[in-house]
Amino acid sequence: MTDTQAAAPKGPRRSLSGIKSTGTPHLGNYLGMIRPAIALQESHEAFYFVADYHALTTERDPVRMRRATHEITATFLACGLDPSHAAFFRQSDVPEVTELTWLLSCVITMGELERAHAFKARKAEGTEGTALHGLFAYPVLMAADIIIYDSHVVPVGKDQVQHVEMARDMAKRFNHIFGDTFVLPEALVREEVMTIPGIDGRKMSKSYDNGIEIFLPKKQLKKRLMQIVTDSTPLEDPKDPDTCNVVSLYKYFATPEQVAEMEAAYRQGGYGYGHAKLALLEALDGHLAPMRDRYEALMADPDTLEDVLRAGAAKARATAREVLGRAREKVGYPRHPFSLA
Ligand code: TRP
Repeated sequence: MTDTQAAAPKGPRRSLSGIKSTGTPHLGNYLGMIRPAIALQESHEAFYFVADYHALTTERDPVRMRRATHEITATFLACGLDPSHAAFFRQSDVPEVTELTWLLSCVITMGELERAHAFKARKAEGTEGTALHGLFAYPVLMAADIIIYDSHVVPVGKDQVQHVEMARDMAKRFNHIFGDTFVLPEALVREEVMTIPGIDGRKMSKSYDNGIEIFLPKKQLKKRLMQIVTDSTPLEDPKDPDTCNVVSLYKYFATPEQVAEMEAAYRQGGYGYGHAKLALLEALDGHLAPMRDRYEALMADPDTLEDVLRAGAAKARATAREVLGRAREKVGYPRHPFSLA
């Protein structure tokens, strides 16, 4: 028995991931998390959710919170998530996760949490005193998210690997203190989509405001692509495809032949960044247009989105209650609170 199987009932391997409801998802989310996560629904029991508890550390506008939740749900469905197969739900529909957060808070130290990237950055800035407790405790809630579904694999972008490792450490620590209880999860990162550049060349991120939204209408998509930062090499001159943000993005959506063609045109000269951006627009639009139609139809149909979220929550919550009950017993509480038993 490998340690990943400790205490958990046998069954299909479970894949779990979450995405925060802060703003509209962008191509970095799509390539880094959404697409690989959806691909796993074929081989795994998939549990994916909108991390609306986590979003509350920065999002204080309830209208935007609700809108982002629907946008993310519609995005997953448009990109091929099959709700009859996978569970898609809101984090806040499974409040058991906050209870598990507390149990885990009692096995992880302040010192360990201080080393988490987000808090460490605040310390480096000297502003940790005004950091919210929610930011400090972010990795504990995320660990609870993962652990409460007996998750085996967690498809995430590179920036979340540290958090998944902390989750594994917390599961291990709990198992060590109280006896085998939790599955030990593992991050799954797609090496080929490690760092997707935003329009300014830095990593595409909501916090840099450099993202390209997945389902922008074509006209707006074109406008956004025209904002991608390039150098000022004149049109006639040869250019370096290896350092160009347009080429980097093109590689994710064009065929290898199309990429080779663009690279050759760069090296030859007489091919401008404007040309390259239009080629990128066509490649992106070809890839996204069919999904964009589905997305728009879903966004116009909030009842269907809510039905999916409700069914997902019912499925997720049943598992969460079971795993939390296991943990409650281990620490000496009744398996379920009397009021619910
Ligand atoms: N922290 C993740 C992000 O910012 C979102 C998230 C919350 C998550 N809980 C999770 C991802 C559990 C994977 C597993 O992108």
